[in-house]
Amino acid sequence: HTVRLSDYRPPDWLVPTVALDFDLAPGCTRVRATLTVTRNGAHDRPLVLDGQELRLLSLTVDGVADATQPVGEHLTLRLAGDTAVIETLVEIVPSANTRLMGLYASGGNLCTQCEAEGFRRITFFPDRPDVLSTYSVRMKADARAYPVLLANGNMVARGDDDGGDTHWAEWTDPWPKPCYLFALVAGDLQPLRDRFTTMSGREVQLAIWTAAADVPRCAHAMAALKTSMAWDEVHYGREYDLDVFNIVAVADFNFGAMENKGLNVFNSKYILADPETATDADFDAVAAVVAHEYFHNWTGNRITCRDWFQLSLKEGLTVFRDQQFSGDQGSRAVRRIDDVRSLRAVQFQEDAGPTAHPIRPDHYIEIGNFYTATVYNKGAEVIRMLYTLLGEAGFRAGTDLYFERHDGQAVTCEDFVRAMEDASGRDLTQFRRWYEQAGTPRVGVTLAHEGSTATITLTQTTPPTPGQPIKLPVHLPLRLALFDRASGARIGDERLVELTEATTTVVIPDVPTRPVLSLNRDFSAPVIVEHACPAADRVFLSAHDDDPFARYEALQQLALDTLSAEGPCDDLVAALGATLGGDDPAFIAEAVLLPTEAFIGDQAAVVAVDAIHARREAVRHAAATAHRDAWWAAYRGNADAAYAQTPEAKGRRRLKNVALGYLMATGEREAEVAAYAQFENANNMTDRIAALSVLANSDAPERTAALAAFYDRFKGDASVIDKWFSVQAMSSRADTLAATIALTRHPDFSHNPNRLRSLVGAFGVNQLRLHAADGAGYAFLADQVLSVDPVNPSTAARLMTPLGRWRRFDEGRAALMRAQLQRLLKTPRLSKDVFEMASKSLA
Ligand code: ARG
Ligand code: ZN
Repeated sequence: HTVRLSDYRPPDWLVPTVALDFDLAPGCTRVRATLTVTRNGAHDRPLVLDGQELRLLSLTVDGVADATQPVGEHLTLRLAGDTAVIETLVEIVPSANTRLMGLYASGGNLCTQCEAEGFRRITFFPDRPDVLSTYSVRMKADARAYPVLLANGNMVARGDDDGGDTHWAEWTDPWPKPCYLFALVAGDLQPLRDRFTTMSGREVQLAIWTAAADVPRCAHAMAALKTSMAWDEVHYGREYDLDVFNIVAVADFNFGAMENKGLNVFNSKYILADPETATDADFDAVAAVVAHEYFHNWTGNRITCRDWFQLSLKEGLTVFRDQQFSGDQGSRAVRRIDDVRSLRAVQFQEDAGPTAHPIRPDHYIEIGNFYTATVYNKGAEVIRMLYTLLGEAGFRAGTDLYFERHDGQAVTCEDFVRAMEDASGRDLTQFRRWYEQAGTPRVGVTLAHEGSTATITLTQTTPPTPGQPIKLPVHLPLRLALFDRASGARIGDERLVELTEATTTVVIPDVPTRPVLSLNRDFSAPVIVEHACPAADRVFLSAHDDDPFARYEALQQLALDTLSAEGPCDDLVAALGATLGGDDPAFIAEAVLLPTEAFIGDQAAVVAVDAIHARREAVRHAAATAHRDAWWAAYRGNADAAYAQTPEAKGRRRLKNVALGYLMATGEREAEVAAYAQFENANNMTDRIAALSVLANSDAPERTAALAAFYDRFKGDASVIDKWFSVQAMSSRADTLAATIALTRHPDFSHNPNRLRSLVGAFGVNQLRLHAADGAGYAFLADQVLSVDPVNPSTAARLMTPLGRWRRFDEGRAALMRAQLQRLLKTPRLSKDVFEMASKSLA
């Protein structure tokens, strides 16, 4: 059953107030819900409530018992008046809720996840984001097993029952909200507490709740929360609006985290961090996700989505905000490089594949399948383009107007764009196509130089995507600059060129000699630039461009050109050497990394799996040996820096570990010895896992011992054991599939979403080993999808994404991938999550 944007109708009934009363126990929870409902407009349609896996025990309408029973997943009530009070009592089983949507058990605690459509698994309700209600919640539970009882908003009362064996708490949330933002947690938790005073002087009590042993590992998340709260005041004028802000970390969670009003629930991976167990990347991810969820309080909660097609309204905007925030905490350039790298790795592949969709999709079978890199990350790029086009002040005027105009409403992406348009006076008619068209635009470039005039011709086309054969030109901002080859200096200012037509010509006078063109600086538009740029120009830009992203990009493009061809790689090797001689370790580390095998494959019509691996290894070896001494200098020169979570120290660690990777590629025994010594002596996880991962990728005699030692040292620490699974699944060794299959029989392997992603998800992005020519990698992936689907369909659907890319491979592999997709589709009782992914992949 397909849901379509064009079928949207406002809700027939509104629910101004909700009272929920929970009698909590893992094996059987009773939920009494009292809804006041009001007819929305003049019509005679019934009230239709959604409900899934609920046992209805009783129903009253205006206090009168009613025998109506649910049909399928709906409870339909014909109401005579324009208002009514509906009371339902249902029974649910949290301990049997393996989908982790609704109310479920995790690590002995009870918690909820409602976005997108989990609230219907808790009680009967019109489960759609445009029904806003104020909630009061009462919950009662065993006092020893669940000493802490939390819900949205403020706690207003609590007490004991049964002589103290059970206790209860009442919470109210003054802000109307859609049901997907409802949350409740009951558990044996301890808080890390702090306070924040908002810009108007309101004091907010902050708490991060975890198991007692983990409280010290919450300090970094707490610091990030306070920094985020202050940042949103300064940069967007947004202030927090409740007296308490609670965060709970849970071990079983389908996604990263959830922005429930006043009670964020997090995957513990994005809260807990200490140097011994978390890498620098983990520390950064914790801060970014904490900021992201906090920022949702305004972009998502105070102003929410009218319907789920508008998901990017809150997600694209909130990702853009968290990217800005993260850029302000360290190196903006390195953060941009990181964001673009993952956009290209995941979103560009999505845009080029069978599930390509616009940032505002117009139909879906299962909305859970649309929490994608397109909606989130391309969505953020679209917001970033608005920021670029309108300028900082214009953009801020736009967000101010958006907040003022729509506070308390459930709105659309169109409402957001209109606020931007009204505040800035810019016509964004054509810009709106970014919301409607899927696919990554390609911008073709030619540069002509005659006399003292440079002429740049830019063309744009967007390839067809499923259901969208014809594409129109989009409005896109391209930053560009010219450089003088002789002096290395920029010629004039950077220009912001706005492409609106299929072809745009830019004429630049007073350019005496043929210049070097720097294009899409800072990645101003999420496009693929097709520029037959001479290698010498790329080398030049990698050394002289004054935009660090463009400098990085020049080297990446040179590497892509080199890795996609045969023959000598001297230019690239020399340029890598020059970059390695620079003075910003964090930047150098990112710039000298060769593109991944997957990204190299993305450039070709057909991915030549083995040839790409062989060529990349050969070039890596050449770059490693040519600069052997410089790699050792980078390694040793950064090896004894004291551990600190500062941008400088993180940059040095990163460069040291990138250098270690190159040193291993020399094949020198000395490198293996250094890696093992680093593994054994590390005083932090960044260094330890970096060493373990190069060893796991090697035939070093210490490999087995290192893996065993790591396991012994960290067994029982789930997030670290996830890393142990991952380094093995990501290895390029020939025995990786066998090892990965063996790991599915390890006692620590489970259907926990983090564990599944760490092993099966990691193997799924191991291009070399997933795409083994005999198809065994594909069969393994499909086996796992089939084993997870009955337990947790949304996770199963995510694991199968790599199989959808069959059109990109040779006919032999493509047939084997299709066969696995067909096998999935033929399976009885397949979830709609996996059905949608498999059927779209084969269409
Ligand atoms: N809104 C959450 C966030 O971006 C993610 C919720 C994911 N839900 C889902 N059904 N995939 O922080
Ligand atoms: Zn979000």
